[in-house]
Amino acid sequence: MTTQGDAVRVRLANKMVRSRDLTATTGELMNMGSAASLEMPHPVLIESAQGAYLTDADGNDYIDFQIGFGALVLGHKHPDIQKAILDQVNDKGWHFGLHNPGQIPLAEQIIKADNCAERVIFCNTGTEATMYAIRVMRAFTDKPKIAVFNGSYHGAHDYGIGIADPDSPANAPQWRAMGAGVPDGIASHQMMLPYRSEAAFDLIRANKGDLAGVIIEPAQSSNPQMGDDIGVFLQGLKDVCAECDVLLMFDEVITGFRFAYGGAQEFYRVQPDIVTYGKILGGGCPIGAVGGRADIMHLFSALGSDPRGIMSGGTFSGNPLSMAAGFAQLHYLDTGRAEIYPKINALGQRLADGINNYARSNDMAVQVLNAGSMFQIYFTDLPIHTARDIPPGKSQAETDFYLHLLDKGILVPGTRRSFVSNAHTEKIIDEAISRICASLDCIREDGLI
Ligand SMILES: Cc1ncc(COP(=O)(O)O)c(C=O)c1O
Repeated sequence: MTTQGDAVRVRLANKMVRSRDLTATTGELMNMGSAASLEMPHPVLIESAQGAYLTDADGNDYIDFQIGFGALVLGHKHPDIQKAILDQVNDKGWHFGLHNPGQIPLAEQIIKADNCAERVIFCNTGTEATMYAIRVMRAFTDKPKIAVFNGSYHGAHDYGIGIADPDSPANAPQWRAMGAGVPDGIASHQMMLPYRSEAAFDLIRANKGDLAGVIIEPAQSSNPQMGDDIGVFLQGLKDVCAECDVLLMFDEVITGFRFAYGGAQEFYRVQPDIVTYGKILGGGCPIGAVGGRADIMHLFSALGSDPRGIMSGGTFSGNPLSMAAGFAQLHYLDTGRAEIYPKINALGQRLADGINNYARSNDMAVQVLNAGSMFQIYFTDLPIHTARDIPPGKSQAETDFYLHLLDKGILVPGTRRSFVSNAHTEKIIDEAISRICASLDCIREDGLI
């Protein structure tokens, strides 16, 4: 008997002939990485985008919930950003190497947000930003260790890809690198803390002699939630770090300029010592930034003059194209913040409520978690408090569900981390809810949930 899952695979293969042909030789040409594609026989290649929609290489349209891995909070091809990019390219040039005046207004936009940034440095990705932030925290404190929380992601470098060893106790998780190629020695400088547990505070106190800094995603993209207890936890963390002379860093690569203009710091009214940004800050062009207290940030300019001065810098850091696109996006967000943030947070909630109500009333073991405009769908109805409550691996139900979604014209990235943008509307969200619920029906009819 043919299942809905078999049928959708055939339909997708027939709909995506060009994607299939173009990627037939990608094994020899390029590496697709682990995050980009769904479990298709071939990756879906995207040809163009507009607003809340993507079009693939075969001309199929999708409602986009990937939205540039969260970077395009105003949607694709926003006219203000497009104009800023074209003006820069047509009139001035797109790469100089040396500093350029476009860095100043973007730095001002960051500093005037309700956050801890008294000064900033620019780099090219969130990965670079967290790498520099870790280095400066070690240099400033003259201590070696960095602590992160289970369920977090802080970029693709060796210190950002820690996961909790599943065999370690929930309240004393052990840091382990995700994947191979990371020397064992890295683990000796890393600590893993239990998320949303005061046991973390005791571990910080016990390790304060060695601990340079604690890094937290104020809302974890693996477990997007925005409860009041998270604000209380962040404040408790700030207090314990201050008590122990340990720096606190918020990794706001996702939450920055998304929860509110001032990110999670404005939303929760808690300010760390240092913060990292990326994604939205670049308006769709590559970017990263570190911001923080002036006495810490000073070390970025003190190589050779202060023994604690650190090395930083890169060929494309602060490049004029990213500065222009980033300023256009931040200026638009800043000017429209009174409407934009309530709107996108409400759209995220509308989507989550619509799917959760459907799943509950149809007795499906499925739930959506959302932190405002960031959301993810989970295939369990058990409560999710931390990443440890998320079922490991990808079930057949999940794999088939995302293929049905793709067939019905909704694109979610392989990471499953999903975002609503200001280009989405209530009408688009309601259409998405109905397609998502129809996809759930398909996997239920196949007996997968
Ligand atoms: C919280 C967080 N930090 C850092 C990064 C790394 O940013 P990038 O992908 O720009 O290197 C990411 C990427 O998703 C992230 O979510």
